[in-house]
Amino acid sequence: MAPVATPVIIVHGGAATVDDSRRELCMAGCERSANAGFEILARGGSALDACEAAVRVLEDDPEFNAGYGSVLTRLGHVEVDAAIMDGDLRAGAVGAVPWLRHPVSVARRLLETGEHVLLVADGALDFAREQGFFGEPPHALISARSRDRFERGQKKDKSADTVGACALDAQGRVASATSTGGIAGKRRGRVGDSPIVGAGLYADRALGAAAATGHGESILRVVMSKFAVDRLREDSAQAAAEMAIDEMVRRTGGEGGIILVDKQARTGHYCSTPRMPWAVQSSAGVQSGVENS
Ligand code: GLY
Repeated sequence: MAPVATPVIIVHGGAATVDDSRRELCMAGCERSANAGFEILARGGSALDACEAAVRVLEDDPEFNAGYGSVLTRLGHVEVDAAIMDGDLRAGAVGAVPWLRHPVSVARRLLETGEHVLLVADGALDFAREQGFFGEPPHALISARSRDRFERGQKKDKSADTVGACALDAQGRVASATSTGGIAGKRRGRVGDSPIVGAGLYADRALGAAAATGHGESILRVVMSKFAVDRLREDSAQAAAEMAIDEMVRRTGGEGGIILVDKQARTGHYCSTPRMPWAVQSSAGVQSGVENS
């Protein structure tokens, strides 16, 4: 099929502080992720496949709060949330699932079945097992950094640095995906914005796609990703990102970030936190950074 759009992918590694010592590692991790997604787009693959592949790279990278390296609950466990959505409004999501390294792929499988949009906790784990995914042994997803954060008393550390990806493929299809360990020191069973369609992510074939990061309880209240995608009717991806974050901060006092791609292959990224690692890749090459500008 002749291409109708210029493929592009944008990924982020979470709205957070990001010490100078981790700056380069986080940018390199985002570049690897964008590269994994763009390889799929460059051979004519789908935006959905590209987002899943990009998020899987971030889930494997201990620098990010998703999959391996997730922050811990107050009981010292890993419980993850993830989602994936395409512009035809197909979506799959899992919440509060223990010990999964690649929850985005379980979410993808749920999207493909079309039976439900969101499964949580043991029910999500049952589905994952039925589909051939195996939970990791209890401590295999705990990185040295998450253990250290836990031991230093993460109840004071409320960071919620999700990962995410948004892509446009050559056929003009858009998609987005998210994955997170949630908020450090969260209660067992807590679900944030990341697996919630409209809040943590949104994709609309007519407009574009968004993926959010930050304080889930605030993002949920303003349904931030749908808010941002709706702005694409009138505004650029960058302006939509800035308006969505400003709305969330103004209405809730929360903190966070967002990435977007629109149908014209323009990307946007913005955060209210000190930093948010991101990378964009297209046929023009890869660009990455940690600040807004
Ligand atoms: N944004 C991730 C969370 O609040 O769980």
